[in-house]
Formats: sequence, C-alpha cells, structure tokens
Amino acid sequence: MSRKDDHIHYALQETTHNTFWEELRIIPNSLPCGNTESVDLSTQYLNKTFPLPIYINAMTGGSDKAKEINYKLALIAKKYNIPIASGSVSIALKEPSHKASFTILRETYPEGFIIANIGVSAPIENAQKAIDLLKADALQIHMNAPQEIIMPEGDRDFRFWKDNLKAMIASTTKPVIAKEVGFGMSAETLETLKTCGVKHVDLSGRGGTNFIRIENKRRKYPIQGFDNYGYTTLESLLDARKVPGVTLLASGGFERPYDMVKALSLGAKAIGMSGYFLKRVNDNTLEDVYEEFDQLIDDIKKICALLSCKNIEELTQKKWLYSSSLINFMTQRNIKY
Ligand SMILES: Cc1cc2nc3c(=O)[nH]c(=O)nc-3n(C[C@H](O)[C@H](O)[C@H](O)COP(=O)(O)O)c2cc1C
Repeated sequence: MSRKDDHIHYALQETTHNTFWEELRIIPNSLPCGNTESVDLSTQYLNKTFPLPIYINAMTGGSDKAKEINYKLALIAKKYNIPIASGSVSIALKEPSHKASFTILRETYPEGFIIANIGVSAPIENAQKAIDLLKADALQIHMNAPQEIIMPEGDRDFRFWKDNLKAMIASTTKPVIAKEVGFGMSAETLETLKTCGVKHVDLSGRGGTNFIRIENKRRKYPIQGFDNYGYTTLESLLDARKVPGVTLLASGGFERPYDMVKALSLGAKAIGMSGYFLKRVNDNTLEDVYEEFDQLIDDIKKICALLSCKNIEELTQKKWLYSSSLINFMTQRNIKY
C-alpha cells in the first residue's frame, strides 16, 4: 500500500478524544430570546463570505482511492458551497501521473473555493505550482514536525522551515493559511508565524486524527507515551487570545455541534473537518452524508438560538465557565479569564 493509502487506512481507524470540550461551558439562560429560523451562520475570512462556518480540511490525493475520496468530498463542498482543501500536492508535483487525483477537486467544483496544500519543507516554487495545479483560491502551508519525527522516511532537519515559510508566503499573491496537522499551536508559535508574514492560521489541535498514532502504526517499534504531544484544539484557541491580529481557523476532532459553537465563540472564524468527512464518505452513501450533515448544521443553529445568538459575531460575546484544569492551564499560560 502507498503512504497515502496507509494514511487513509489508519485515519479511518482513528477515534476522537474530544471530551476536553466539556471543560468549557457557556453560561446558560433559561429564558432565551433567539429563534432558529433567524440564525445566520455565514462567516468571513480569506477576504470572502461563506454561508457556513465549516470547511473540508486537507486530506488526500496521490492514489486511485484518494481520487475517489476527493471526488466525493468535492461533491459535498459543492452542495454546501463551503471551501475544500486538498491533501499535500507535493506528490503530484514529483509524479505527474498523480495530478488527476487532485485536479478532480477543481473539475467537480469548478466554481468552488479550493485551497491547495503544501508542506513547509517543500521547494519554495512548489507553493505557486500547487496553487496553479488546482487553480486554487488560497494556499495552506502545513507544519507537521511531530509526524515527520515519527515517520520512518520523515524530515530530520527543521532549521530551514521558518525561512522557507517566509519565502513561500512572499512567492504568491494568494492568501496563505499556516496550518498544523493535529498538534495545535501555542501563542509563541503564533508570534513567530506573524513575523513570517502569516495572517491566517489553522490551529489544528489534538483531539481527532492523530498522526503520531498513525505513523506509529507504520513503524516496527512505535514511540511509546508520545500520543499526547501538543495542544488540544481548545488549548490552542485559549492561548491564541494572547496574540491578536491573526485570523483563527480551528480544526482537530470536530464532529459535535456544541464543541463547534464553543470554538466559534472563542473566536474561530470557521471549523475544519477531516476525519469526520473521511469516515462518512467511506461508510455511507452521499445521501446519508448530506442527511447527517444537515442535522449537524441544524443542531448548531438550535444551540445558537438557545444562546440567544443570531450570528457568529454574537457568539463571541458570550461568557464562559472553565474547569479547574483549564484554569490551571490558563494560569500557567497567563491567559486572562
Ligand atoms: C487521511 C488524512 C490525510 C491528511 N493529510 C494532510 C495533508 O496532506 N496536509 C495537511 O495539512 N493535513 C493533512 N491531514 C490533517 C488534517 O487536515 C487535520 O489537520 C487533522 O486530521 C485533524 O483534523 P480531524 O481531527 O478533523 O481529522 C490529513 C488528515 C487525514 C485524516
């Protein structure tokens, strides 16, 4: 099996570990004044307005199986008019026979907002080449150091990453998102990213698909006790409060509506979902995927109405209660509450 198919295979076995969201509560109100009909979930980021605060996050490309998955994902994105990110395009730039498994996104969703994905360690010119291949509207540059460390064939020298990131951002006029892959970002990371010219980040925290677990399954001798490396998605959002001036996108472990509402209330402009969609397109018909996703959107609207919020901006005005372990985290990290 190819590495890309290995990733799909093991990602399908992943389970979410997202109960940390229960450590944060929004102050309740027994006499809400909202109604579901008037909830507007539209959101603005990357200089555009989208009807829903959800996007299909980077996953795949580079095999026949990946092409089939990308086709289905693009159909979902098209139906809901939401952005979709490709998997890392590097493989298609090295091996042109893999291009079709990526360009299927643009063929299927010609009018769509497509985000090309490339690793921060790729040759600088590949950033624009990835955008060109997909006629992409934006670029995600992923930073996946923990995964590289675990991967038998992964990178071992990270010294040039920061300069590469800067140069990649400078090499294109398209908006760029600096993206984690499931290990979250600290305030220190965000400060450094800002100095590189980053304006949009996908915090992609721990809680869902975990590439330490996945890469460990591809090793003869797994690294033990390392699965909890990094920040959860919630910790990333809390720490990010100390760093104004960056547009926040949140991903990592999202599949439940209240978690998504909480992330939006903490300032995320949109929620990226990978594992959720991968599992659904693998196990169900598209009709079933649509039915379940409609329900998810409806549930988000219901929770907004319960919180008396008509839109995402109003969600950000909410107040929260923190568990003692979150208070502990926030105290150590000097985050105001
Ligand atoms: C099969 C698979 C392949 C992935 N490949 C990429 C990739 O090429 N580039 C990237 O930035 N992230 C990649 N990711 C990471 C996701 O974009 C996301 O950051 C991570 O899976 C956490 O989100 P989730 O819990 O919703 O899956 C991949 C995820 C999956 C499930």
